[in-house]
Amino acid sequence: MTRYQEIQHHLSTNRYRWLITGVAGFIGSNLLEALLKLNQTVIGLDNFSTGYQHNLDQVRSIIGSDIWNNFQFIQGDIRDLDECKAACKDVDFVLHQAALGSVPRSINDPILTNENNVSGFLNMLVAARDAKVKRFVYAASSSTYGDHPGLPKVESVIGQPLSPYAVTKYVNELYADVFARCYQTESVGLRYFNVFGPRQDPNGAYAAVIPLWVSALIKNKTLYINGDGETSRDFCYVDNVVQANLLSALTTNEAAVNEVYNVALNDRTSLNQLYNMMRALLVDRFPHLETHQPEYVDFRKGDVRHSQADITKARNLLGFEPSHAIREGMKSAMTWYVDNLAEKAYTE
Ligand SMILES: NC(=O)c1ccc[n+]([C@@H]2O[C@H](COP(=O)([O-])OP(=O)(O)OC[C@H]3O[C@@H](n4cnc5c(N)ncnc54)[C@H](O)[C@@H]3O)[C@@H](O)[C@H]2O)c1
Repeated sequence: MTRYQEIQHHLSTNRYRWLITGVAGFIGSNLLEALLKLNQTVIGLDNFSTGYQHNLDQVRSIIGSDIWNNFQFIQGDIRDLDECKAACKDVDFVLHQAALGSVPRSINDPILTNENNVSGFLNMLVAARDAKVKRFVYAASSSTYGDHPGLPKVESVIGQPLSPYAVTKYVNELYADVFARCYQTESVGLRYFNVFGPRQDPNGAYAAVIPLWVSALIKNKTLYINGDGETSRDFCYVDNVVQANLLSALTTNEAAVNEVYNVALNDRTSLNQLYNMMRALLVDRFPHLETHQPEYVDFRKGDVRHSQADITKARNLLGFEPSHAIREGMKSAMTWYVDNLAEKAYTE
């Protein structure tokens, strides 16, 4: 049995109360789906700034109305300490995902990003501490590696941040660490590398590359590649991220707590390779893709050239074993987009 199977088995016979912040977003709604399937009680907090009711509706239709009763949604904002405290009441584990993502957004509006990602984070840490939650697991980011050229990225070696977003995510780690020292709180930070999968938003100016491209491919619109297409990323399917969160919340390994971990595959895919993979998975269904060509534009400000995670630490201390390599993840994600992009909620 893998460590993840052990934990899933444990959860199937032990019910805890979880708080997921950012529950109406991409990763938050996938965590919700996984926890409800494991018969857990879940509180969700979201202000719908980048998340959607239709993500929650989709989870509800997948898991069914009976189990849905184990979920309580609070529409609220992590920038309000009282709302954070109310959400943390009697909670065992916090999975803190709420934040404003996107490097370009943070360059356009650093104050708004800081309010959500730093002040909001601090509110959640204080609320979780005061509610005496068992553990606070939070979304950190690979952007913390900044300008450090080393590959693959090892948790202990970071560079200078390249964007306000990266600063906020690094500050999260510093605060979590200081809270452990000052108040003996337990936290785990997960440095996600480009996550993708069902319910990742294809719309808006700050959409991530995979949903943006799949939408352009399906609708036969212009698809832009920033730079020469040789920029690479360690793209990580969302089920691997769900696994890392549950392992972190429930690990009984004392050495694993109050640490940060890379969450990805230790694989590297260039944008050109990604484009070809996506087109190949979609071409049978959308014959217009046989002649489709991307358009190359300037490099984007604040982007790092290459990214790849060393996941040895998560493997050794948490028992993390990614269940989906990029190709398997892409197949599932493409299936979901093909089924859902035609639906009104996802095309608005
Ligand atoms: N998706 C990735 O590739 C990736 C990579 C690294 C880190 N992360 C981090 O993972 C987390 C989840 O990202 P995601 O991709 O699911 O993004 P998302 O935008 O889909 O989800 C974020 C959710 O947080 C909510 N939210 C934002 N500010 C809030 C506030 N002040 N109060 C309450 N709710 C608020 C949004 O409405 C949204 O539902 C974020 O912390 C992000 O920084 C994501």
